[in-house]
Amino acid sequence: MNILQINSSVRGASSESKRVANNVVAKLQAANPGARVTVRDLGANPHPVLDEAALGALFTPAEQRSAEQAARVALDDALIAEVQAADVVVIGAPMYNFGMPIQLKAWFDAIARAGVTFRYTETGPEGLLKNKKVYVATARGGIYPADADPQVPHIRMLLNFLGMSDSTFIYSAGLAMGPEAAAKGQAEADAAVAALA
Ligand SMILES: Cc1cc2nc3c(=O)[nH]c(=O)nc-3n(C[C@H](O)[C@H](O)[C@H](O)COP(=O)(O)O)c2cc1C
Repeated sequence: MNILQINSSVRGASSESKRVANNVVAKLQAANPGARVTVRDLGANPHPVLDEAALGALFTPAEQRSAEQAARVALDDALIAEVQAADVVVIGAPMYNFGMPIQLKAWFDAIARAGVTFRYTETGPEGLLKNKKVYVATARGGIYPADADPQVPHIRMLLNFLGMSDSTFIYSAGLAMGPEAAAKGQAEADAAVAALA
């Protein structure tokens, strides 16, 4: 089993999304001895955001790219290869300003490549990153009802679009609502991890 862990908090050891994602990975490893784990920490090592130069590089045929353009595309290629090779993807996703961190959005921007990870067919888009299990550990200061969660639907839509439709979300919520609420939120996340099959 190949496990890919994507961390996107800008915090180090104090990150709650990373703590929960680590626990998911530990549980998977315990159930699958010999599983290989690749960790990409987008907070510590951010992937470059899309800009005009990056788009220009992507839309230039490979054989016509400058060395600089080839190097830029290679950065995205590495992320795509990692996710293609993964059987399980574990994402740590803090909520920043009601959405995902820009670091995680930059990851999605890098791996969403037409003809490689998705394609358009006569019946609509088709995700090509198939047969993967995804866990998303979300951490947030507040508490959002499922029908008014500003972050999760966007992440789920991206995962589904790319073919990763088997996703489980784990919530660590209420972290900025006082020590009792924070402890409850963390305990609920821990219970959700413990209950994973
Ligand atoms: C820049 C920033 C923006 C945040 N925006 C929100 C927000 O919009 N809603 C919310 O509920 N919590 C928000 N929080 C609280 C974080 O979601 C919370 O601290 C969470 O633990 C962050 O994940 P991490 O511990 O993995 O870094 C924000 C925190 C930071 C640092």
